[in-house]
Amino acid sequence: MTKLRAAITGVHGYVPDYVLTNQELETLVDTNDEWITSRTGIKERRILKGEDVGTSVIGVESAKGLLEKTNTDPAEIDLIIFATITPDLVFPATANIVGAQIGAVNAFGYDLQAACSGFIYGLTTGAKFIESGVYKKVMVIGADKMSSIINYQDRTTCIIFGDGGGAVLLEPAEDGYGIIDSIHKSDGNGEPYLHMKAGGSREPATVETVNAMKHYVFQEGKTVFKFAVENMADFAVKIMDRNNLHSDDVAWLVPHQANKRIVDATSNRMGIGQEKVLMNIERYGNTTAGTIPLLLWDYEKQFKKGDNMIIAAFGGGFTWGAIYTKWAYDAS
Ligand code: UT7
Repeated sequence: MTKLRAAITGVHGYVPDYVLTNQELETLVDTNDEWITSRTGIKERRILKGEDVGTSVIGVESAKGLLEKTNTDPAEIDLIIFATITPDLVFPATANIVGAQIGAVNAFGYDLQAACSGFIYGLTTGAKFIESGVYKKVMVIGADKMSSIINYQDRTTCIIFGDGGGAVLLEPAEDGYGIIDSIHKSDGNGEPYLHMKAGGSREPATVETVNAMKHYVFQEGKTVFKFAVENMADFAVKIMDRNNLHSDDVAWLVPHQANKRIVDATSNRMGIGQEKVLMNIERYGNTTAGTIPLLLWDYEKQFKKGDNMIIAAFGGGFTWGAIYTKWAYDAS
């Protein structure tokens, strides 16, 4: 009997209208376009402006677009997994806020927190529900409103992050297509290098924590960079090896967009040419759990049914992993 697999059968994304350029950042902190471009590859990022708008806005817009383009009745959705580190509220889950707004009346949902690896963790988890044979339509959303936890006086972080995300639909796959393999890892020893200091149960929010600016992203960039380059490339190569894939067999590398230099190091280790590497960091920056669905959305029309794709990510935690999928449809 052939193994039941899950395939991505549609993707849709959303980015807010406001464009925060490197030039505008030059007016906020001591930085310049040349430094940001050469060190990260980023030219601009999107910011979700307005009162009372959380990450669910990105999720709802992505989910609605996805339902429309895949001609799916929201009542058919069995499960919504929402990967994010910037939920609307500590609880309830943003997945449920989205579910209510899109009319997913028969779904259960939960949030998943694995920082920049959140979407790939969600994809693997969602695929397992499909592979069980019990669930037929799983929506995996990856989105973050990073501007809600970024200090725009800290030049080491504010130049990197942006807001945005997207959603995919997972359904049982035709023979041979869909998610074939995945490997993931996390290492809590990475905590000191990338975290938010307060606002959790260890140090709840107080006037003092706010005044001490403990509710923003803290990152020791150089250390994170070193671990990202090593681990993302290691896992991308490992998943190729254990599926007997040579670089010629891989049609696309879909890498988390943290830094162009990390992506270049990964594709070099894999022996993959630039023409096969999906990139949009120059327009959106690092949207944390949002980068991979945004890439799939941007490039969807170029994918062909049967294309071998390696999706790879590294992020806070530390968390990392790689997924091998055979693309299941021609969008055009
Ligand atoms: O997605 C989640 C995981 N996160 C990542 O993967 C991010 C990984 N890290 C990185 O991408 C890079 O480390 C950064 C982009 C954050 C920083 O690049 P870097 O090449 O590692 O720079 P650095 O931290 O070593 O700083 C080099 C210099 C320093 O000055 P000195 O000490 O050499 O005089 C910094 O103070 O650049 C300075 N600097 C800046 N200069 C202009 C730091 N930030 C800026 C800035 N503009 N925005």
